Amino acid sequence: MPITEAQLQSPLSADLQTILRCLSCGSKLNSDDSGGYVCAECKRAYPFVNGIARFVDAQHYAASFGFQWHRYQKTQLDHDEVRESEQNFIMKTALRPEELAGKLILDVGCGMGRFAEVATRWGARVVGIDLSAAAEVAAKNLADRDFVAFQADVFSLPFAPESFDVIYSVGVLHHTPDCEAAVKALGKYLKPGGILAVWLYSGYNKWYRFSDFWRRYTHKMKPETLHGILKVAVPVLYNTQQVLKKVPLVGRPAAGLVHHVFPVNRQKRPEARMLDTFDWYSPKYQSKHTYEQVFHWYEAMGMEDMRIGDFAIAVRGRKPA
Ligand SMILES: C[S@@+](CC[C@H](N)C(=O)[O-])C[C@H]1O[C@@H](n2cnc3c(N)ncnc32)[C@H](O)[C@@H]1O
Repeated sequence: MPITEAQLQSPLSADLQTILRCLSCGSKLNSDDSGGYVCAECKRAYPFVNGIARFVDAQHYAASFGFQWHRYQKTQLDHDEVRESEQNFIMKTALRPEELAGKLILDVGCGMGRFAEVATRWGARVVGIDLSAAAEVAAKNLADRDFVAFQADVFSLPFAPESFDVIYSVGVLHHTPDCEAAVKALGKYLKPGGILAVWLYSGYNKWYRFSDFWRRYTHKMKPETLHGILKVAVPVLYNTQQVLKKVPLVGRPAAGLVHHVFPVNRQKRPEARMLDTFDWYSPKYQSKHTYEQVFHWYEAMGMEDMRIGDFAIAVRGRKPA
């Protein structure tokens, strides 16, 4: 849907007029009548397709995520009775509502928008980018918020340096071909004094050895095929473990062995189990990291005031003012 009159006059659209830049020549972008953008200098166009402006020509290696977030559009979205994503966001970023209220935020790899939902609820204006078609779902889910979604790549962002007060990226950069380069790419978009918070898969606990082994094959499958297989395999493996656990003495170790060799997510809600298991087995890239590594990257960027969150590997730091 094209941008409405109200959105055109919103503080967020004023922000966008200031911060958006052409990927080819770095000049300012003007919005066109359809909701897309065009470069004021070189005239490169960034079309508006299916509700969002596109700064990439395809989903590239992230197509499985496009499938995933279209299939599970609201599974992890908070609502009146459930605040799971908010708790997750706090544990994985260590950000507090008062640090985001009234601020301009970049959500890198926004997926279907569950964390942008939290940040906008806390009073932030949020720009979400995602390499996949997930950005379309985020735009729909958060149509009534101070939020805009773009399909864009973390390695080639259409923003001026020093645009954002806070940048966060939760569960994303380990899914790129070069996590270190992705983290380091973000520093320049922070205003002086701004905060960068990232959450990455942990390399400390080796539970993922077997899922990494299977993923060598599963990531090559069509997302529809893999999803079809997991629709059968996840309930079978999960229920087998539950039954085994009831067998005296050998039951628990046997259930542990099944889980070790064929890991499936063990959340209570079947839909959430399916979503997270698909999320483990479908991505092409999935690196694991340590605090030591990530602190080195932050130090190399000149960040200060580094802190960790409650859920490894969660690191935040501040760009010197
Ligand atoms: C596991 S999902 C996490 C989504 C969201 N942050 C959340 O936690 O709900 C990872 C997301 O990263 C996106 N992604 C992967 N590589 C990317 C890149 N180079 N630039 C932007 N987004 C990327 C994927 O498309 C996917 O939506």
